[in-house]
This record gives sequence, structure tokens and C-alpha cells, in this order.
Amino acid sequence: MLTLAIETSCDETAAAVVRDGREILSNVISSQVAIHAEYGGVVPEIASRQHLEAVIPVIGEALRQAAVTLDDIQGVVATKGPGLVGALLVGLSTAKGIASVRNLPFVGVHHIEGHLLACFLERPAPFPFLALVVSGGHTHLYRVDGIGRYRQLGQTLDDAAGEAFDKSATLLGLGYPGGMVIDRLAGEGDPKRYPLPRPLFHDGSCNFSFSGLKTAVATLVRKEGEQVKEGQPLRDLCASFQAAVTDVLVAKTAAALEAEGLSRLVVAGGVACNSGLRGGMAGLAAAKGVELFIPSPILCTDNAAMIAVPGDFYLEQRLTDNLTLDAVASWPLPLAAAHRWLQ
Ligand code: KG4
Ligand code: ZN
Repeated sequence: MLTLAIETSCDETAAAVVRDGREILSNVISSQVAIHAEYGGVVPEIASRQHLEAVIPVIGEALRQAAVTLDDIQGVVATKGPGLVGALLVGLSTAKGIASVRNLPFVGVHHIEGHLLACFLERPAPFPFLALVVSGGHTHLYRVDGIGRYRQLGQTLDDAAGEAFDKSATLLGLGYPGGMVIDRLAGEGDPKRYPLPRPLFHDGSCNFSFSGLKTAVATLVRKEGEQVKEGQPLRDLCASFQAAVTDVLVAKTAAALEAEGLSRLVVAGGVACNSGLRGGMAGLAAAKGVELFIPSPILCTDNAAMIAVPGDFYLEQRLTDNLTLDAVASWPLPLAAAHRWLQ
């Protein structure tokens, strides 16, 4: 089955052609990040307009790179939510339009389901496994017993991990989105120089809280003054911040693996690009004899190929959606999956 996948949930216009939900023939991503950087965050109205301009050329490029035409496509899938509704609507409506005129089956996919199955495009993780999804909008732990079979074990109670990276980067004058910049500076810093809190470290739950960490960075900047925003102090602060986030994510993941009796771990989402987190999870996996699956960075951040993994599965199962499907801003993953099995 050759699937055309479209993803427009935030500030990336993305389209991919994927064979059997496993083999990427093309994976085109047009990022709006430079446009939003000026405003210090994603401006929803601008995102929608940019998607409108980019979506058709990006789909055209995905078909061209895959060396196929719409005549070869056997199913169309697109992100239905969660995300910015105006942005989602562009990709979803385009996908429905193509499905309608070509008389093709269509599936609206949950964005997080794409993230947590992205590793299937490189090295499929055998079920069951624990999945940690860490992105700009999500920090969630799931037990995954199969495609569409998810149990949420915990989530952030306030900011997502990526949000904490980006907000702290803004406080440190590193621009938006600054997760990647913190990562780069942290590589040359001392993670022990600034003691930062490890929120909910010992609470025994699978939940997270990162807003206090951002406040701790703000307090430190106020106390230490501008000198903490440059040179070695800045590198040390980035390293200290990254170590605090990594410590919490690794400790909670270790506890969840143990509680669920799981020996396979998937880490996904944009923050899974972070070198400190990748190192921390590799250490955890080695210490506990756990098999670790983290996609290549290009499949961790938003892309359309990952949407094709669950999309292809539901197309194959004939669990398709009709063309009245709407976009949703907020959509719990287990609910979305249960609804599809029940339809
Ligand atoms: O999954 P994603 O592309 O979009 C969402 O669904 O949110 O994740 C984007 C997030 C941003 O917060 C970005 O700063 C963060 O991932 N990110 C990183 C790194 N690369 C991307 N955070 C820390 N270290 C990185 N290397
Ligand atoms: Zn995402």
C-alpha cells in the first residue's frame, strides 16, 4: 500500500509518501520556524496562512521525490489533532480533498500516535513497550500493547519538556525555539555548577512538572545578573538545566519500566533529539538490560512519514474515516484509539 501522509499540526508543513507504513519514499518538511522566531513563539494565524501557501507545493515535492504520481497513491492520511486547529484544518482539508476527487480511503491520525510509532520507519519495536513522548506540547508516558492499544501512565501537570527548554532558552536570550541551542551549549558546560530542582522526582507517580524548573532559571537570571547569559556561566547553566530535565525523565521512565515489567523502551518527539536525554536513556537501557528505540532526529521532530505508520495500519484494517472528519485541538490518545476500534 502506497500512502500519502500530510502533517500540519503546528509550524511545519510536511508531506510524505510511505510504502506499507514502513518504507519512506519521500519525507518533505517545510519549516516556518524562521517566521515565528521573530515573535518568540508560534503565531497560530500566521501558521495557518503559511500552511495554505506551502501545502500543495510540499505535496507535489513529496510525490516528485518518491517518483510517483497521485495515480499510484492508494490511501491518504493526515493529522486530525491535537494541535492548532487552523493549522490542522489546512492539511486535513487538503487530504480529504485529494481522497474525495481520487476516491481513495482516508484516515485522520492522532499526532502523538505518529510520534510514538516513528521508530517503525527504521527499526520496529516489538510490543509491548513503554513509550516516552517528549515534544513541544507533550510529555507523556504510555504503555503500548499494539498499534491502537495505548494506556497512559502519566503526563506533565504543567509545561511540556520542550516548552521548558524553549521558555528557558528565551529567558537566556537564546531565541526561539531554543531547545537545540541549549543542547549545543550544554555540551561544553558543567552540569553541576547550578543546582536546579528535579520536580516530582520522588513522588512515586509517572507525572512530570517542568514549570518550576523554568521559574528556577528565571530566579537565577535575576540573582546572578546578565553575566549568566554569556560565556562559560551560560554553558554551565544550559548543562545544569539539561541535566535536571534528563534526570527527571530518566528516573520516571525507569520507574515506569519497572512497574509495568517492560523491557523495551521507545523515546520519541522533538526533545528526543536532545543529546543529554539520548545519553541518559542509553545509560538506563544498558543498566537495566532494556532494548532502546529512539528514531533518528529527523523522525523525532514533526514530519509526515510518522503519520503514515498508524495511518497505513488503519487503512489496512479498513478502520477509515469519512470525509466529514474535523480537526481537534485537544484529543487524549487512548480515547482516540478506543473510538477507532469501537467504530
Ligand atoms: O515534536 P516536535 O517537533 O513538535 C511538537 O509536536 O511539539 O517538538 C518540538 C520541540 C521544541 O520544543 C524544540 O525546542 C524541542 O522539540 N527540541 C529540542 C531539541 N530539538 C528539538 N529540545 C532539546 N534538545 C534538542 N536537541
Ligand atoms: Zn510533534
